[in-house]
Amino acid sequence: MKSGLVIWFTGLPCSGKSTLAHLLHESLKGQDVPSEIFDGDIVRQRLTKGLGFSKKDRLENVRRIAFVAHLLARHGIVSIVAAISPYQEARDEIRKEIENYVEIFVDCPLDVCQSRDVKGMYKKARDGEIQHFTGVSDPYEVPSKPDLVLKTSIEPQAKSLIRILNFLKEAGHIDIAE
Ligand SMILES: Nc1ncnc2c1ncn2[C@@H]1O[C@H](COP(=O)(O)OP(=O)(O)O)[C@@H](O)[C@H]1O
Ligand SMILES: [Mg+2]
Repeated sequence: MKSGLVIWFTGLPCSGKSTLAHLLHESLKGQDVPSEIFDGDIVRQRLTKGLGFSKKDRLENVRRIAFVAHLLARHGIVSIVAAISPYQEARDEIRKEIENYVEIFVDCPLDVCQSRDVKGMYKKARDGEIQHFTGVSDPYEVPSKPDLVLKTSIEPQAKSLIRILNFLKEAGHIDIAE
């Protein structure tokens, strides 16, 4: 069996991280590649419950996710993370710590993310009901060296999935037919 890896989706809220992470998860499952998904929204209810959205807490949030994702990866599992992870400092730290780390920047313009507003959070942030909301009242540092960039405002989901799978195959991370 191939060794595991950590695939980390980073991007603004509503950029498409969860959508693509789930598509990838389903695709890998269908090809008998063991994988697990760490979705920021869910992780924050359990593993990182109690953490807020200050820079310090956001760093701690991704550090804990990285720790568990790495443990699974060491056992041959593909850990798929979907978390905003807005700070370059945190992403650099993860890359240093995890040898098989693939960073995917889900790149979508803020105005498109705002118009998607899947959970109505952007509106709440603009109305001042939520503080420290990434893209509105909190920073998102564009990744300086992502392994893959997916432009979800112009590329259909299915196309992005194919590009992810192709990248993983070409980089020798996974061994699947198509
Ligand atoms: N090409 C695309 N890739 C991913 N999501 C897309 C794309 N086009 C439209 N969407 C939509 O954008 C929304 C993204 O939401 P979500 O995946 O929850 O974002 P995030 O997890 O980054 O906050 C979904 O409603 C999804 O259907
Ligand atoms: Mg999400």
